[in-house]
Amino acid sequence: MNTKVITIANPTRDVGKTTSTAAIGDILARKMNKRVLVIDTTSPGDLSCRFGCSPSNHANPTLDILLSEELNAQKEQRVGDLDLTPFILKGIMYQKKENVFTLKKASKYEHLSIICSSPELNFVYNLMDYDDNSIITNLLEHLKNCNEFDYILIDTPPSYTLRNIRDHFIAGSDYLLIPLVPSKNSLAGVERLVNSFVRISKHSKIQKGNSLQLLGLFFCNVSCKDEVDIDSYVMDNIAVDKSSFFRTSIPQSTDIINYGNVDAPITVLFPDSSASSKYVSLVEEMLSRIDNKENTT
Ligand SMILES: Nc1ncnc2c1ncn2[C@@H]1O[C@H](COP(=O)(O)OP(=O)(O)O)[C@@H](O)[C@H]1O
Ligand SMILES: [Mg+2]
Repeated sequence: MNTKVITIANPTRDVGKTTSTAAIGDILARKMNKRVLVIDTTSPGDLSCRFGCSPSNHANPTLDILLSEELNAQKEQRVGDLDLTPFILKGIMYQKKENVFTLKKASKYEHLSIICSSPELNFVYNLMDYDDNSIITNLLEHLKNCNEFDYILIDTPPSYTLRNIRDHFIAGSDYLLIPLVPSKNSLAGVERLVNSFVRISKHSKIQKGNSLQLLGLFFCNVSCKDEVDIDSYVMDNIAVDKSSFFRTSIPQSTDIINYGNVDAPITVLFPDSSASSKYVSLVEEMLSRIDNKENTT
């Protein structure tokens, strides 16, 4: 199977991007036996933490190092020759050797790799030309060409100042996945994101000949109170085709509220919670959508 790159994005913070990336990555790797790479593109490194990595204990190579490789390759005009496989394998081997991913309650991951964030990440972002997405799209292309992964999941920052960086990751992806919460604020951000997605997908078709697609939108962190309103929210407040929404919504979890979920995916910490079982249904829905889309293109 060709590697599928899925970027998880929403310009609003606290809508469940990182929680969802970690849960989906965990389910794909542990339950579905897929080879998964998760990439933390955010500078606080929230996703890295969910997989047991901190700035002082991260898997190598970190994202800033890989982006620097791409920047140097572009400067020296040897992009076509760049082979990241040894870098990536080094990361995978580090993970196996050092057991970075031995989480509190999970056994070691055999099929999950991570490209961690680091404190230097914003510095490297600043070296990049904000109007040129080729560094990031080349990196993703090189990662796909390693043939080491079935899925690459990318967690993105909320911040508007890093909007271009986020859009570059979207441009290099096969699919965009949008978590959202049923609030007015979140819907306005989603509408802007979907509009820029339409532009990005046109450009990426011209640029790379690939077809970036909207995998779908799903509601996260939904309280009982919100549940009844979802349909009317969607109908009244957002100009996105209703069929783009996944049937599965992720309920608000009292376990997360009571205990937090900073150092492991919630599917590891609270496997019996209804949020965790809904994440499994969501991944099933996602995979069947991807199957359908692949078969019709
Ligand atoms: N299903 C859920 N139930 C309860 N709390 C949740 C749920 N999903 C996310 N959260 C909490 O909401 C906050 C924001 O989630 P996070 O995934 O970090 O959002 P983002 O990455 O979009 O900023 C975190 O404190 C997280 O623990
Ligand atoms: Mg986040």
